[in-house]
Amino acid sequence: MSPDTGITSRVRGSRGYAEQAEDLVAKYEAIDFAAKHGAVLPLLPAAPASVLDIGAGTGADAAWLAARGYRVVAVEPTAALRSRAMALHPSPAIEWIDDSLPALRHVVARRRQFDLVMLTAVWMHLDAAERRLAMASIASLVAPDGVLTMTLRHGPVPNGRVMFAVSAEETIALAGECGFRPSLHVDTESIQAANREAGVSWSQLALRRH
Ligand SMILES: C[S@@+](CC[C@H](N)C(=O)[O-])C[C@H]1O[C@@H](n2cnc3c(N)ncnc32)[C@H](O)[C@@H]1O
Repeated sequence: MSPDTGITSRVRGSRGYAEQAEDLVAKYEAIDFAAKHGAVLPLLPAAPASVLDIGAGTGADAAWLAARGYRVVAVEPTAALRSRAMALHPSPAIEWIDDSLPALRHVVARRRQFDLVMLTAVWMHLDAAERRLAMASIASLVAPDGVLTMTLRHGPVPNGRVMFAVSAEETIALAGECGFRPSLHVDTESIQAANREAGVSWSQLALRRH
């Protein structure tokens, strides 16, 4: 694994996360998987499907899936989150990798495809050019008939973070160019009270690779 450079991270989208890692553990671990992913739950492939969780944060989703029999590869570029995640969720069903979009070069180099790829609250960290490259990388990692789930954050950018405006429509169009068909698109307000009050909302997408 390559060393984490924290505040001067080589991954622009991960700026601000290392400094807040301790607080984020409490915050992310408190969010229920079903509340966060409710609408897409019926579309998830059955365990023991293989899952790639990109931008896995503190590993809450990876742990939820591993506990239900899925085999998870969790990608997280922020070492301060990754190390806490590994300590919090020491499951043999989760493999942690230090890698980042848009290229995901370590994961892509393995030439493995997954039944389910998840990007939860990550896409807005990429600019338009990166999103185009990233969608192509992601498409190469989803097995035929596999599912890609994405949650897109809309609203004010927290201090210290790097985020870009993203839309469900642009994402679905980009995914379509890479061989995906939309199975689900739901727009919701934030489930966190403070974010809701700040005007944060989300788009939940599920896309199937054909
Ligand atoms: C809002 S957090 C979401 C964490 C987790 N998916 C969750 O839902 O709890 C965004 C995560 O994306 C990661 N991230 C930022 N830029 C990234 C990139 N270019 N490639 C992969 N992950 C990235 C951050 O380090 C952070 O862990």
